[in-house]
Amino acid sequence: MFQVKAYSGNKQEDYQLLLKQLKALLDGETDETALLSNASALLKQFLDEVNWVGFYVWKNEELVLGPFQGLPACTRIAYGKGVCGTAVKERTTQRIADVHQFPGHIACDAASSSEIVVPIFANGDIYGVLDIDSPITDRFDEFDQKYLEEFVTIIEEHLK
Ligand code: SME
Repeated sequence: MFQVKAYSGNKQEDYQLLLKQLKALLDGETDETALLSNASALLKQFLDEVNWVGFYVWKNEELVLGPFQGLPACTRIAYGKGVCGTAVKERTTQRIADVHQFPGHIACDAASSSEIVVPIFANGDIYGVLDIDSPITDRFDEFDQKYLEEFVTIIEEHLK
């Protein structure tokens, strides 16, 4: 059913198809573990040159590992720490071309070179983050950011 491969043709069309698939996949589902699990699986299949895709959920004033695809990762990240904790603190997407140049970057998978973290909000408060790592330096461009933020917006609509 979900067999789209990333960037096989037009990148914009591929991303629009991804968003359409996400909507179909989440339709009618309210369980957060189910929603986030399928969202991470869909993204891992869609994106090329990516070694980790997943979610951290904000619980008791820290980020806790949620559904993901990739190697086992650190389970808790404090506010303001690493790329993920910075996304929570700044309340904005962090698009890092070279994680080795990011002060305080938390290396869960030594293969990671670039990273994008999109904050997720629910009812006006931080809900968590979408975190994606790539072994390629500068893997994510503005176009990826725009569509990944739209991807998160669809998830947010299901968290209300
Ligand atoms: N690199 C992240 C930690 C999570 S792993 O990439 C899965 C960070 O610096 O917050």
